[in-house]
Amino acid sequence: MTIVPKKAAASDGMDSGHYRALMRHQAGAVTVIAAGSGDARAGLTATAVASLSDNPPTILACIQQKAGAHDRIAALKSFSVNVLASDQQQVAERFAGRQGAMGDARFEGFEWGTLKSGAPILVRALASLDCELIDRHEFTTHSIFIGRVLAGQFRAEAQPLLYFRGDYWDLGGR
Ligand SMILES: Cc1cc2nc3c(=O)[nH]c(=O)nc-3n(C[C@H](O)[C@H](O)[C@H](O)COP(=O)(O)O)c2cc1C
Repeated sequence: MTIVPKKAAASDGMDSGHYRALMRHQAGAVTVIAAGSGDARAGLTATAVASLSDNPPTILACIQQKAGAHDRIAALKSFSVNVLASDQQQVAERFAGRQGAMGDARFEGFEWGTLKSGAPILVRALASLDCELIDRHEFTTHSIFIGRVLAGQFRAEAQPLLYFRGDYWDLGGR
């Protein structure tokens, strides 16, 4: 076991590099958050997503303000959270900007539909949640978007794509 010691205490807390070194050990579900319609769609890969409440059904997503999808979600007041399946690493890489595609070009080659809000729904995602934006909190470089879940769908036979220590994983059976 490797224990990374905390640096000498600074009054304003831990430095961001040390924080990232800790957080990369938190295995997480990989999602694609998407908004918009027609050729004005935008989306990004995100792991900072969590259930907020089941009554009412609400979800939260932490999104950097400079991301292309940020202002689209704020303006349209709708977005989808698409939890990726283990066979969708390519989708994750595309929406993380790793292949250079921006804006609507990120959506090409994958099958998309809509449910209630009109936000793009990734048809073969492990699970998709269609959301109406009901609240937003800004914190330095990021916003926390809170979505009321209007509709959703899932693939019962699929397994999740996970992100852990800077790489993609699947559950690998048990
Ligand atoms: C595994 C993984 C998880 C990510 N999680 C988030 C996240 O939760 N929130 C966020 O704002 N960016 C996250 N990112 C970064 C964005 O996907 C990336 O910066 C994307 O290019 C932003 O879209 P843009 O090119 O329109 O700015 C993550 C990237 C990866 C590879």
